[in-house]
Amino acid sequence: MNGKIVVVGSINLDLVARVERMPKEGETLAGLGFATYAGGKGGNQAVGAARLGADVTMLGCLGDDVFGVSLRKDLEVSGVSTGAVKNVSGPSGSAIILVTPDGHNSIVINPGANAALMPHDLDDATEALKGARMLLTQLEVPMDTVERLATIAGDLAIPLMLDPAPAAKMAESLLRNVTWLTPNESELRAILEHMGHPVRKTLLSEDDLTKAAKVLLDTGLRNVAIKLGGRGVYLAGADVESSLIPAHRVAVKDTTAAGDAFNAGFACALVEGKPAKEAAGFACAVAAVAVTRLGAQASMPTLHEVEVLMQSGTTTAS
Ligand code: ATP
Ligand code: RIB
Repeated sequence: MNGKIVVVGSINLDLVARVERMPKEGETLAGLGFATYAGGKGGNQAVGAARLGADVTMLGCLGDDVFGVSLRKDLEVSGVSTGAVKNVSGPSGSAIILVTPDGHNSIVINPGANAALMPHDLDDATEALKGARMLLTQLEVPMDTVERLATIAGDLAIPLMLDPAPAAKMAESLLRNVTWLTPNESELRAILEHMGHPVRKTLLSEDDLTKAAKVLLDTGLRNVAIKLGGRGVYLAGADVESSLIPAHRVAVKDTTAAGDAFNAGFACALVEGKPAKEAAGFACAVAAVAVTRLGAQASMPTLHEVEVLMQSGTTTAS
């Protein structure tokens, strides 16, 4: 993998409990197991891309707690450059995650230090941003910072991939500077609702996806990749013929960070010059390996592991 990727985003400590089912309001459930993992959408995407062999620089904020030390080390061990990751006073970001036996999850994030990543931090990192072949971000850092990044991406003509997670209202001026918007299905529904085009159907058909993509693309957004879990991903926009790329069939353990694995793989393949459909096929394979494993950053595969899945249809032992 060649080409530099810069990720501007969150870094969290994930506190993960496996549960038989999601608890009801007011209910106490006994968990099936507990573990902590390095996470955060920004950190996950950075580690995902680095494990695939990309040259990755991360911009973000950690707290001055003990987690800040271990989270930085986890990024570095995977090959992510952390010179532009600041430490601020207070706690690092964290996430409380429940995972059911079918691999589905519920997540509560506590922004902590992630809330301290300011637009001026991007101005301080102009050299790193200028050298990027692609910029990746998400919505776990302040919206002002994401908007500033989009403006920089537009000014420097560097492709920007925005994962609109967790879903939030986004200005059209922001979307106009986005090359790839990558919502999952619930984020897509939330965005359309914010835009005054609510979708009430439970299962989105390809026709529904085409219409939804059109609403987004009409804002001036360049392309959209709608992540559909076990169904795969729907692509539409200026750089791709509209298409549904199927997911791989794998034994799912934990879908946490599946979307991050997809974005990491998609970005790496696009930076390599692969056409969007081929890049999305590669990204689905990256995400498929990730869902066979527990944890966020811990689940991100190497290029070799992805190639094994693509060639044989099965994953190597994890
Ligand atoms: P998360 O928020 O859990 O990180 P997401 O909701 O953003 O993930 P999903 O649509 O669930 O994103 O998954 C992203 C990609 O991961 C899908 O497009 C698909 O390629 C792959 N994927 C997810 N779930 C499965 C599954 N059950 N089997 C195979 N691949 C999957
Ligand atoms: O996308 C998965 C991530 O969402 C987790 O690692 C958690 O930290 C939250 O940011």
